[in-house]
Amino acid sequence: MRKVRFVEPVKVYRMIKDELDAAYFDVMSKGELIDRSHLRSFEENLASYVGTKYAVGLNSGYDALHMSLRAAGIGAGDEVILPAHTFVATCSAAVIVNATPVLVDVEKDFGIDVDKIEASITPRTKAIIAVHLSGYMADMPRIMRIAEKHNLVVIEDACQSLGSSISGKMAGSIGLTGCWSFYPFKILGGYGDGGAITTSDPEVANFARRMRYNGEDRQTGEYHGHGFTCLLDNLQAAFLDVKLRHLPAWIERRKAIAEMYRRGLSDLPDLLLPHYHKPGFDHVYQNYTLRAKQGDEFSEYLKKNGIEVLTQFRKPYYRHEALKLVDRGFPETEAISREVCSLPMNVEISVEEIEYVIRTARSFYGR
Ligand SMILES: Cc1ncc(COP(=O)(O)O)c(C=O)c1O
Repeated sequence: MRKVRFVEPVKVYRMIKDELDAAYFDVMSKGELIDRSHLRSFEENLASYVGTKYAVGLNSGYDALHMSLRAAGIGAGDEVILPAHTFVATCSAAVIVNATPVLVDVEKDFGIDVDKIEASITPRTKAIIAVHLSGYMADMPRIMRIAEKHNLVVIEDACQSLGSSISGKMAGSIGLTGCWSFYPFKILGGYGDGGAITTSDPEVANFARRMRYNGEDRQTGEYHGHGFTCLLDNLQAAFLDVKLRHLPAWIERRKAIAEMYRRGLSDLPDLLLPHYHKPGFDHVYQNYTLRAKQGDEFSEYLKKNGIEVLTQFRKPYYRHEALKLVDRGFPETEAISREVCSLPMNVEISVEEIEYVIRTARSFYGR
């Protein structure tokens, strides 16, 4: 049986082997491991790509969220508004700084339902974490208007959406910080864990630079607080710098694949495809996440036919008892959790593989 993998890192390695090998040998031969030139180069290039003054390399997307909340002074007694449908780390970062997460349902396009935000604001609300899922941004213009009205900090969890934008404004350049994950399967994936924040606020950048290194100012040796050890490895930064150069072309490839899926599947009435129509919103398709009325039946059929798909998340995070979160009823999130299915979407996939995925999905519906 044919197999279509969700991602194939080995194929990507083969595509840019010379550049990755050169980066590896450069780091190794110079012995540059922690907080060295490759990290600084990647930070500069990331900031310039996103359109912020600074980028600070961290160990993960989780750390990016955590550092952002701390930099904004969020802590005990504060409430943080965030979507009910997201990766659990968005919420855990709020909990870990002792704030109270206040969950809000999402829209059909997976972004936080902006119409429901204001009803969740209380005198204790300090921040909104806007999550840009799968390569498509939450409605930042409306979120920023609400935040300004209520004097709230906005943090962008852009871990899944590097390169996306609204009317030319890049994800990660609008809120106080943009939070990035370079987990291997992300649109810009490293070879291990990695993350960063982007920001144009010098104090936030300084705070993160110190806190990622046990609170130490590396120039003066002064400790500015009890910190963490969570900086991006120099070697990972060297690899990410190589891959960042390819990102614009790779995003075009992802859009072309999404278009193939659209053409192949849009006549199937039980599938809701991720092609939305908010003017100015640019989808970069980190994931091609559709909704199938038949839920598990559909995704299991694809799996049985050798196609790796992701069904994140069949059980929403707020229903995991140990997390002790309040389920206030999130109908769209519940529907998404039953129906969600991400098809293979990566730059290394072949046209034959895409056609096979389309054929298989169609055959499920007897077409
Ligand atoms: C939306 C979202 N937020 C946060 C994270 C956390 O990133 P990391 O796994 O690098 O900690 C991820 C990725 O896993 C994510 O998809």
